[in-house]
Amino acid sequence: MEKAEFERVIRQIPIGACIIDVNCVITFANPAFSGGLTARNDHLIGENLLTVFSEQARFLRRKIDSVFVLKNSSFSYWQQRPHVFPMRSTRPITGDESQMYQNVQFMPITACDGEVSHVCIVVTDVTAEASYFMQQTDLKNELESEHQQLKKLHQELKIAQRQMLQSEKMASIGQLAAGVAHEINNPIGFVRSNLETLKDYSQKLMKTNETQKKIILKQAEPRFIALLEDVYEKNGIAFINEDLPELLNESLDGTERVRKIVSGLRDFAIQDDENWAEVNLCAEIDSALVVLENEIKYKAKTSVSLPDEAITFWAKPSAIRQLLFNIIVNALYAMQPMGLLSISCAYNESKDVLLTITDTGSGISPEDLVRIFDPFFTTKDIGQGTGLGLSEVYATVQEHHGQVNVSSELGKGSCFEFTFKKQK
Ligand SMILES: Nc1ncnc2c1ncn2[C@@H]1O[C@H](COP(=O)(O)OP(=O)(O)OP(=O)(O)O)[C@@H](O)[C@H]1O
Ligand SMILES: [Mg+2]
Repeated sequence: MEKAEFERVIRQIPIGACIIDVNCVITFANPAFSGGLTARNDHLIGENLLTVFSEQARFLRRKIDSVFVLKNSSFSYWQQRPHVFPMRSTRPITGDESQMYQNVQFMPITACDGEVSHVCIVVTDVTAEASYFMQQTDLKNELESEHQQLKKLHQELKIAQRQMLQSEKMASIGQLAAGVAHEINNPIGFVRSNLETLKDYSQKLMKTNETQKKIILKQAEPRFIALLEDVYEKNGIAFINEDLPELLNESLDGTERVRKIVSGLRDFAIQDDENWAEVNLCAEIDSALVVLENEIKYKAKTSVSLPDEAITFWAKPSAIRQLLFNIIVNALYAMQPMGLLSISCAYNESKDVLLTITDTGSGISPEDLVRIFDPFFTTKDIGQGTGLGLSEVYATVQEHHGQVNVSSELGKGSCFEFTFKKQK
């Protein structure tokens, strides 16, 4: 290709090209380069590149030096440095943006001796690509933030649904419990009282029988004595005498257990008419710890953090006392042989009352965690626990329009957090 023809091509291509010598003096600039500049400059040839583009001088100097020294091309991409040369964009990116986004390549031009004599600077307009890329990035960020919002919403919805299910479940179980408690209360009452009478009767009968036997043994003819002993033997009277009091005592114990369950059920179901009062939570915690001192002594160290000010709220004193008992007793049971029981209470920023009871006990598995507030849910052995403790706690929280949150990890411990409104 002829030199003139080649020059014509260079002048016409829509890529900015400019050549400089070792002193950074501009020896060539095609129209795409000089014409694209925002500040028109017709006298680029013979000018020093670093003076013309003084704002970018340090950067240009570094790039050009690296080409002369390393004899390799050097690049500048729009993402790192979008506007090396102040040129008009071919396609505005935003309303106010008029600068061209550009990739710039610094290429070595070697002379016959193999040394780099000039550097050719090629400026490619990537405004369209950059625009597309940035739009996509904005879109991605928007989507990402929407996704995060949706995730948060979903989480909140899940919690609300769980709470709704729990309170619905509790409401229907509460009705059932009230009914069952009422139905069982009467029969268990008369069974117990009849058993007491039976115990009394049986003691009297046994005494009478004993006396009769003694008289007969002393005074009757031998054939009657033999007859009597035969009847005693055949009917196992000696065993009955031993077993009868035990049977009656066991039955009485059984009715006592049923009575306790029924009373627990009633506590859970019936919101009695006890008066509401200003309850001082710190004082209640203190007195619970005093009452449970003996239990605590062998099972846990305690760390109690109560503020100097009194933490008071409107509540049913005995229900709150019972709640503290149930939670502390559960915690002690879970910490065998020794653990740390931490109790704290405070006001939060919205002046609600916060009560936190933490133990380093056995922890609760995720499957059990959703069931602990259900009446009769217990992991204790038969006869050891009724499983009504936490359902009472839940009923108290509901009645006080409070909230309870439990977090637990198997083998590490559990944390019960309560929030109560200051006023009813
Ligand atoms: N702090 C705790 N650590 C580990 N498990 C707990 C804790 N609190 C409660 N649980 C679990 O929840 C179950 C139900 O507790 P809840 O107080 O209702 O009944 P219980 O303690 O088993 O019986 P009761 O209270 O009648 O003696 C317990 O059996 C236990 O499995
Ligand atoms: Mg319990």
